[in-house]
Formats: sequence, C-alpha cells, structure tokens
Amino acid sequence: MASNDSSTTQPKGLYGWICARFPLDSMMREHLTEYYAPKNFNFWYFFGALAIFVLAIQIVTGIFLTMNYKPSATEAFASVEYIMRDVEWGWLIRYLHSTGASAFFIVVYLHMFRALMYGSYRAPRELLWVVGMVIYLALMAEAFMGYLLPWGNMSYWGAQVIVNLFSTIPYVGDSLVEWIRGDYFISDITLNRFFALHVIALPLILVFLVIAHILALHEVGSNNPDGIEIKKTKDAQGRPLDGIPFHPYYTVKDTFGLGMFLIVFCGIVFFAPTLNGLFLEAPNFDPANPMQTPPHIAPVWYFTPFYAMLRAVPSMFGTQIWGVLVMFAAIALLFFLPWLDKSPVNSIRYKGPLTKFMLAVFAVSFVVLAVCGMKPPQGIYPTLARIFTVTYFLFFLLMPWYSRIDSTKSVPSRVTYHDHEH
Ligand code: HEM
Repeated sequence: MASNDSSTTQPKGLYGWICARFPLDSMMREHLTEYYAPKNFNFWYFFGALAIFVLAIQIVTGIFLTMNYKPSATEAFASVEYIMRDVEWGWLIRYLHSTGASAFFIVVYLHMFRALMYGSYRAPRELLWVVGMVIYLALMAEAFMGYLLPWGNMSYWGAQVIVNLFSTIPYVGDSLVEWIRGDYFISDITLNRFFALHVIALPLILVFLVIAHILALHEVGSNNPDGIEIKKTKDAQGRPLDGIPFHPYYTVKDTFGLGMFLIVFCGIVFFAPTLNGLFLEAPNFDPANPMQTPPHIAPVWYFTPFYAMLRAVPSMFGTQIWGVLVMFAAIALLFFLPWLDKSPVNSIRYKGPLTKFMLAVFAVSFVVLAVCGMKPPQGIYPTLARIFTVTYFLFFLLMPWYSRIDSTKSVPSRVTYHDHEH
C-alpha cells in the first residue's frame, strides 16, 4: 500500500529482494502510487486505459490465432474456417480479435476526441500528441494488413484498391506498388509479408510507442476537463493540491470503466460479432477471387471517413492523385493541431461559442463522411461527401483564426470539482 512515508520504508521479503536488484519499487511509485493525476477526471479519461486493455486482448488472441492460421494464399481462408469450426474455442478467439480491431478504433477515436475537447494536445503536451498520432498511423497499418490475412474476397479487393492508390504518385508510383506487393498482383508473397508485419513488426512498434506515450504523459503530467495545470499549485511536499495518486484512486475507477466496456464488448462478441456487416463484412465470408470483384468495395468503418474524402475529389488532368493527397492531408493536419490552436485557454469549457461550433462541425463531418464512405457513391452521398470534406478541412485551416478571435471565459486557478448533489 502506498503511504506518504513510503519513501523512507524499505520494501521487505521477495519484493524487497527484487527491489534491491531492479528499480521495481521506484517505477511503481513514479508511475502509480506517486503519480499525481488531476482529481477531476471524467468519463472521457477511461479510454487511454481501455486502449491498453484492447491492445493486450489483440496481442493475446493474436498469438492463439497464429497457432492455427496458415499465411498462404491456398490455405489462409480454409485455416480461418478451421479455426472457427474445429479448433476448441477458436470461434471465440477469432471473434475477440475481429471485434477487438473495431473496439480499438472506437476507443482511440473517443480518446482523441477527448484531447480535442480539453486541448490536451497543446503545450506542454505536443510530443505526447505527436506520439499518439504515430500510434494512430501504426494502428491503421496494423488493421489494414490484418484485414488481408483471412484472404476473403473483401480482403483481396480492399488491399487491391488501397495498394493501388500509391500508383497515382508521379514517376515512382508503379514501381512503389510493385515493391509493396512484392509481385505484379496481390499474391501469396504479399500475404506472407503482410503476415510478418501484422504479427511481429507492427505490434512491437505499437508496444514501444505506447510505452513512449505514457512516459511522455508522465513527464508533463495529465491534462483534465478544466484544462488547468495542476502542477502550478503544490503543497509543502511538492504534491499538486488538485492531484490524487493514480493508484489506488484511478486504478479503481478505470476498473469500473473496464467493466462497463466489457459488458458492451462481450455483448457484441457473443450476440452480434459481425455487427450487421460493420465489423465483419459479408464478402469476406467468400474466399478471395481475383476474377470477381465484390458488388461494392468499401473498407471497414474506421477507414471510411478518409475513403469518402478520397472519392469526393474527382480525377483531374488524367490523374487521381488529388483525392489521394486530400486523404493524406486529412490525417496529416491532425499532427499540426498543437500549432494551429492559438486560443489562450485549453478546455472547451472555457472556450467561446465559435470554437464549440467548429468542434461540433468537425465531429459531424467525421461521422457523415464515415457513413458516405460505407455507401456506394450514388444518389446524395457524393454531394454530402464533398460538402463535409470541405467542412472537415475548415475546422483545421480556420483554427488559427477562430481560436484567436473567439471569446473565452476566465479559467479558475484551481480545479473546480462539485460533489454530486443530493
Ligand atoms: C494504442 C493506442 C493508445 C494507448 C494505449 C494510449 C494510452 C494512453 C493513456 C493510458 C493515457 C492516460 C489516460 C488518459 O488520458 O486516458 C493517454 C493520454 C493521452 N493520449 Fe493516448 N493512447 C493511445 C493512442 C493515442 C492517440 C492515437 C492519440 C492522439 C493522436 C493520443 C493522445 C493522447 C493525449 C493527448 C493524452 C493526454 C490526455 C490528457 O491528459 O488530457 N493517444 N493515452
């Protein structure tokens, strides 16, 4: 147990033996019992811990899937069917992994949105944010490569469409695409290298990045819904007055969040693992067929906002590169948020109506684009995609202006925390 005089007591027994030889006790203190987190964390602060949990689920279930999966064009699809039908608990392991992929993006999108609301990307947390963005890129690569592995028809054609995007790059495009595939088409060779990257390279990178993310967070300290730097008001011992030790207070709170998450997660795993084609798409229950495209090719929901932007831009001067550039710019702009935001205050609670409106515009644009990207490009959808691509970009490009001129409320010097009313 942590106590205030723990710095003077020496750990005893086996723990003491280990601590005399390994900095376990000092690490536990620095990152848990003596890491002071703001006392006003709310619902939105569950998602970092949940992201760690989902990463662990993906790694553990991934290891068990790899025991029976065959990374070869002739055997991959059948090996997944074998896992689903014959391997003991194989169906559970596979559904945990496929649902985990979507859960990961839900959790990470909410985690990122929290940062937008409370200005958590702003100084001194810019590097923490940039590391987060690199995690997001690695996660997208991980999900994209994983999606090829079942070698279903959507795996095949999805990879075909996305890899071919690189061919729009002038001069080097075609050679680049050949280099990525390792062949003249998406083949067994492509499947093998995507397997290697999905199973070992990217998970290693992700784990490393998550450690860097937490170290960066603990170096500067957590932000909070009020956007107040708790390190500015400390007691005589140097502890932030508005902070509480992460353990036990937030370990308990996060365990509650985990329980809530697991209720929803298990509900999907056991009762609706395909979520009506949203988490596992129908064409992926057919084996890859290079001679037959699925009736409508679309990536999984977490990529569809960007896919909608790609399709929203018409090809001009005989090239589709513009759509590709817009899509990459939509992601790249997120990296620059810390420097686009010129507001004098951090949290949305103290920002003015213009900033609140623009954040709402961003959220609506993202969701509408996600829907547009799932639908065939017919009827109202291409028009909607164009309008909301523009509004998505306006959120970022106008930020230096509206964040500066918008009115703000005065920020209290201490965290305001109201006990629940009775
Ligand atoms: C595998 C994915 C990720 C994991 C495991 C992870 C983990 C965490 C954890 C445990 C925290 C502290 C608890 C919390 O604030 O919720 C945190 C904070 C934070 N993360 Fe992440 N994160 C991930 C992805 C991202 C991404 C993609 C971004 C943004 C691009 C991001 C940006 C941030 C920021 C800005 C904070 C500080 C928030 C604050 O103090 O208000 N993270 N992360």
